[in-house]
Amino acid sequence: MAETEHVPVMAEEVVEYLAPQPGGVYVDCTFGGGGHSRRIAAAMGRGRLIAFDKDPAALAHAAEAAPAGVAFEAVQADFAQAPELLRARGVEQVDGVVADLGMSSMQLGHPERGFSFAAGPLDMRMDPRQTLTAEQVVNQFDERELADLIFQFGEERRSRRIARAIVRSRPLRSTAELAGLVAAVTRPMKRRRGMHPATRTFQALRIYVNSELQSLAGLLAALPAWLRPQGRAVIVSFHSLEDRPVKQSFRAGAQAGVYRLLTPRAARPTETEVAGNPRARSARLRAVERLEPVS
Ligand SMILES: C[S@@+](CC[C@H](N)C(=O)[O-])C[C@H]1O[C@@H](n2cnc3c(N)ncnc32)[C@H](O)[C@@H]1O
Repeated sequence: MAETEHVPVMAEEVVEYLAPQPGGVYVDCTFGGGGHSRRIAAAMGRGRLIAFDKDPAALAHAAEAAPAGVAFEAVQADFAQAPELLRARGVEQVDGVVADLGMSSMQLGHPERGFSFAAGPLDMRMDPRQTLTAEQVVNQFDERELADLIFQFGEERRSRRIARAIVRSRPLRSTAELAGLVAAVTRPMKRRRGMHPATRTFQALRIYVNSELQSLAGLLAALPAWLRPQGRAVIVSFHSLEDRPVKQSFRAGAQAGVYRLLTPRAARPTETEVAGNPRARSARLRAVERLEPVS
């Protein structure tokens, strides 16, 4: 399998929790390589599947994702805009929603996108139509703003030290330069085994550049109105900044009688899956079912 092919994470569990019904309307918020979309389309057999991705490269081959009985449409947009884009297509409510957060192996595997530590521009935009890039953040933010951003979105304890080093070494133009700099200033410190020392800094920049947490908050807020009674939402996240709001929103919904929790504790990938796909290691899946509104 080429490095740039995306192996869908927890694919069986996604389909199991979503339980797609023939004739239903389903939304894949994060098409990526289409692995989840393909399985959902196959499981429903007939109905409608609308997939979103911010990244036009992800949607380049999307047309082949669904079998003949499924009306399939791929839309290049932020999933936070999905409710209004669906309304424009005459869809007010749906039977199921899937979101598999973060970046794809295609994005990571193409250094020119700026997501990987390999030499590439400091870009990191999922949607190339947006103007803000990681290069602007790295070279224009003041030291305090950088430190706060790396701390908040990377949960990086060494954020001040890293921000100071960045400001002293500017201008920085490539991901390899940034990764090397972070590694150099954090080298004497203890590191988590197997994790590149710049992982958290890169995560912070990527989250900030792509407004990832705002999009997730928008999706979570929209879900109750968007899901039909018995409709289901399945969200796969890869770090605590994503998982925490999902957990809190689903629990609050369950307490308010809006949702039934299908995963009282997050579901995790099997050891076999993790052995075959290390990207799955940190995955957490949470799922809910929309309850009948009380009138
Ligand atoms: C982990 S991959 C999804 C992989 C996909 N489930 C599969 O099986 O191939 C995440 C994808 O979501 C997209 N993405 C991330 N945040 C997004 C957002 N707010 N709106 C739309 N797409 C987003 C990324 O561009 C990336 O292609």
